Amino acid sequence: MLNSKITKRLIFAKKKGYLDGCCFEACALGFHETNCFDILSIKKLTICNPEKSVIKKAIKNNHLTFVDLKGFKITRTKSFDKTFVNITKSRKESLFNIATAFFLTKINGIIIITGDKELGVDFYLKKINSFVNLNIISKSHGKITLFKKPEFIPKEIKIWKNFGKFQKINDNFFTLPGCFSEKEIDDGSRLLSSQFTNKLYGKVADLGAGWGYLSAKALESNKNIKEISLVESNLNALNCSRKNISNFKANFFWVDIEFEDLNLENYDHVIMNPPFHKGKKFVHSLVSIFLKKAKKILAKNGTLWMVYKKELQYEFVINDMFQNFECIYINKGYRIIRAIKRY
Ligand SMILES: C[S@@+](CC[C@H](N)C(=O)[O-])C[C@H]1O[C@@H](n2cnc3c(N)ncnc32)[C@H](O)[C@@H]1O
Repeated sequence: MLNSKITKRLIFAKKKGYLDGCCFEACALGFHETNCFDILSIKKLTICNPEKSVIKKAIKNNHLTFVDLKGFKITRTKSFDKTFVNITKSRKESLFNIATAFFLTKINGIIIITGDKELGVDFYLKKINSFVNLNIISKSHGKITLFKKPEFIPKEIKIWKNFGKFQKINDNFFTLPGCFSEKEIDDGSRLLSSQFTNKLYGKVADLGAGWGYLSAKALESNKNIKEISLVESNLNALNCSRKNISNFKANFFWVDIEFEDLNLENYDHVIMNPPFHKGKKFVHSLVSIFLKKAKKILAKNGTLWMVYKKELQYEFVINDMFQNFECIYINKGYRIIRAIKRY
């Protein structure tokens, strides 16, 4: 997507002479699309992102990454000439990424921060401006700024670096910034878990498992579960679920079900609170992808348990795939359905 807002900002900054010169090693934090960097003369680009599809694409395009395709850490240089940060939806994740840029960039190297106005880029730039003098460019409903990494790391940056640590939320669960429901348990997931108490057994799959709330509750309230598979595209969330669930019955898969096949079959139950957003964008097709995968994973007569926001009106999509679904709980905000795979 070469005409993306980020690319436009980078082109604009380059034209103004801010991004001139060759850069040997650069790092990109928080970017979902990385072809925006094609316009810059970067010899080695390292992509840092928790999403499996981003890492897969980066490796395919011969970029470097800090993890391999299994999610294992790779030791890399921590001294980049330039580090790019893109503001994400999560405030703590963005502050952590900015702090990481300060630590990853060599002294006198360049830190570049960009972000959309609707994601609050001004908030971050104002904060940074209090300890580094910024030259800010406005372009394509957002901002971009470049500055030399200072010799001494400011106090605030050291505080923001801590946002990358596991944080404990209610019921003693651990989460990381940028994960779904990073601050508290999702109301929809809480409702779903109250519905499947003592009803799950055998093999269970949790699609889009996040930091593991549904699986943790499933294991707690269903002693007849033999095995539970947590499938999640965000590595930070999956790593939280590993910390939240120490039960030997749990298996963890770093998989993006939109782009990868899952070798799971003959499951007795699938539990899910499917996503409907990618970043800030509403993506209606995600629920169909999740439903299709659920059907594929389930054994004949296996059961799907799903929660969604009432206003999303997924009944028609569900009916296309599971004709005999029933709504087992409904309140002001959510609908919980149970569906049996008949064929
Ligand atoms: C609404 S959240 C539910 C999380 C968790 N099950 C809970 O109830 O708290 C949906 C989850 O699906 C994950 N997800 C989104 N797209 C995905 C994909 N294509 N493949 C796998 N997981 C995905 C998101 O990262 C997110 O954690």
